[in-house]
Amino acid sequence: WPAFAGDVDAILALKRRHNAVILAHNYQTPEIFHCVADLVGDSLALARMAMDTCADVIVLAGVHFMAETAKLLNPDRTVLIPDLAAGCSLAESITPADVRAMRRRHPDVPVVTYVNTSAAVKAESDICCTSGNARRVVESLGVPRVIMLPDEYLARNVAAETAVEIIPWHGHCEVHERFTPAEVRELREAHPGVVVLAHPECPPEVVAEADFSGSTAVMSDFVATRRPEQVVLLTECSMSDNVAVRHPDVAFIRPCNLCPHMKRITLGTIRRALEEGRHPVTIDPAVAAPARRAVERMLAL
Ligand code: 13P
Ligand code: SF4
Repeated sequence: WPAFAGDVDAILALKRRHNAVILAHNYQTPEIFHCVADLVGDSLALARMAMDTCADVIVLAGVHFMAETAKLLNPDRTVLIPDLAAGCSLAESITPADVRAMRRRHPDVPVVTYVNTSAAVKAESDICCTSGNARRVVESLGVPRVIMLPDEYLARNVAAETAVEIIPWHGHCEVHERFTPAEVRELREAHPGVVVLAHPECPPEVVAEADFSGSTAVMSDFVATRRPEQVVLLTECSMSDNVAVRHPDVAFIRPCNLCPHMKRITLGTIRRALEEGRHPVTIDPAVAAPARRAVERMLAL
């Protein structure tokens, strides 16, 4: 604690001075998640919270696409991302030109875009989704086929649950693609009775070996409501650290895959963000209007 205390105290004072809130994703480290964040959650919850806040400044302790989503929903507020290099392999996997090419290949098929994308890619889309509402969004369109971008594994995992035909892209999350079915079987052998929860960005073969699959918030709720004796969360490392603090009676088995992008956000970079007002997120208005429509259409469901 003493190592963090200076930064924590400074951040709490800076938040008051600037009327700022810190929205933190579930993959942030425990000192951010538990000591300085005002609101925490999965991508869907962060988008909803961004819509509801009346703070002057939003610091997004997460990755760049999350800060862009907050800015889309708050064009008149300052949204800060503490490190501009906090990206995402999924967001990097696709460009607006790729989306236009997909549309040409599949005319009249609507495009559902995962929020893990740039605002420019969202702007080419009909509607956004998160891992927490992907199936619902796909089925809400009332059509037999949809294009779902850019996460191939999320698309295939949703396809396994719905009658809607899904045309995927070939993006992958560099953290979740590393989990394997063999690893799940080894975990079960080493920890008999362990309950396995997998994020839907994991390969479908991994999700098939798991007991349950859901967004980071859904996994957290599962632990809170079902109270398994032993659990493994097949997702980013810090998630287990954060959930375990709240459930000392549950044994967490922790294979550790770190997201290097999430880990760029630290108490130090959050403090500098508030001290120096950096890095403000800006979005070209011509891109922001259609991107906002796609996000708001999702949030209206
Ligand atoms: P959630 O929406 O489930 O929090 O996932 C976001 C993410 O980036 C997972 O890798
Ligand atoms: Fe992107 Fe994967 Fe990191 Fe989530 S965990 S931000 S999907 S690279």
